[in-house]
Amino acid sequence: MKTKAALVRESNKLAIETVELDPPKAKEILVRMRAAGVCHSDLHTYRGELRTEPPLILGHEGAGIVEEVGSGVTRVKPGDPVLVNWLPACESCPTCLNGHFNLCENFNTTTFVGTLLDGTSRLKTLEGVSVNHYLGAATMSEFIVIDEAGAIPIPNDVPFEIAAIIGCAVATGVGAVINTAQVPAGSSAAVIGCGGIGLSMIQGCQLAGCHPIVAIDVVDSKLELAQQMGATHTINARNGSTLKALRRLIPGRPDYIFDSVGSAKTIPQALRGVRAGGTAVIVGLHSAIEEIPISPGWLVFENKRLLGSFAGDVRPRLDLPKLVELYRAGRLQLDKLITNRYLLEELPEAFEAMEAGTIAARGVIMFED
Ligand SMILES: NC(=O)c1ccc[n+]([C@@H]2O[C@H](COP(=O)([O-])OP(=O)(O)OC[C@H]3O[C@@H](n4cnc5c(N)ncnc54)[C@H](O)[C@@H]3O)[C@@H](O)[C@H]2O)c1
Ligand SMILES: [Zn+2]
Ligand SMILES: [Zn+2]
Repeated sequence: MKTKAALVRESNKLAIETVELDPPKAKEILVRMRAAGVCHSDLHTYRGELRTEPPLILGHEGAGIVEEVGSGVTRVKPGDPVLVNWLPACESCPTCLNGHFNLCENFNTTTFVGTLLDGTSRLKTLEGVSVNHYLGAATMSEFIVIDEAGAIPIPNDVPFEIAAIIGCAVATGVGAVINTAQVPAGSSAAVIGCGGIGLSMIQGCQLAGCHPIVAIDVVDSKLELAQQMGATHTINARNGSTLKALRRLIPGRPDYIFDSVGSAKTIPQALRGVRAGGTAVIVGLHSAIEEIPISPGWLVFENKRLLGSFAGDVRPRLDLPKLVELYRAGRLQLDKLITNRYLLEELPEAFEAMEAGTIAARGVIMFED
């Protein structure tokens, strides 16, 4: 069948084009998309800064309705609303069996390359050139084929745009706090960067019972949103030394710092900025392809921990439905996280706004009925 999708033919070349989508094979499903979130990882990938090579279809957050299922599919049926899990783990390698489904040993030859779990693609250009599914998901397309493990059923009353952002921003941000850092109640915390991931971290800190929660960004409007989502204090990193400002707010320095930027500037800030015995958690990927010098002294003399968090350490089938329920119970303010809505054709504008810092929180592509 044909589907209109966000095609990156080569790095920095994006077009909304019609491509060919093959039907689902065994254990795969066809989903009609209703919403797809715009994550900075899509932008990094479009710019050629992450692992998956073009040609590819962008998008990894998303939600829609199951249209058709391949043979052997048991978890969903046509008509079911689902959110897309961009980490369809094999569920049988030693790492999966250890409970680390976000680190499945097969991803290096499947999801990160941009294939489905059987190592092949269902996508090609109209000229017949094979196209990768970004993170096995490629949600910025009217229709997608994903592995059954990539579909998490959701209740009918959850808006598709909310389900979409749970798949990456919320899972990654809340998961970094709850799963990776396992923050005890009463801890002090700071969050660097208040986009989709950082605002989700702030909500994760609030869920975990942190106090105070300091939000750090370079854009004042993001800091205002951060306060609405649970930050008790804010620092604009453009106004002088961030670490000095943090010390003025928390003289002993915070127990935890979560870095949703992950740049050569912020990673050392996170590690230096936590208290002795504290924990810095790096989530952002702005410097994923750079080497960043870290002083062993910061780690050793003050007994600090430096953690990485990939996809919030989530076990998707267990944790994504829990996040959906926290939203339904009013414990996660996800409606406020979606501040910009776009048509698929407007994706270039969404990327421009993300680079300019003018997206208030999270942008979502809405597909027409
Ligand atoms: N580890 C993971 O599994 C994972 C998952 C998803 C996204 N990511 C990465 O997380 C990062 C954030 O993604 P996002 O979608 O929230 O991006 P975003 O662009 O929406 O948000 C980034 C925020 O950081 C702020 N910022 C930039 N430089 C800053 C600085 N020096 N100090 C303080 N704030 C600064 C920006 O103003 C913006 O508000 C990206 O690099 C993305 O690729 C990682
Ligand atoms: Zn993402
Ligand atoms: Zn596995």
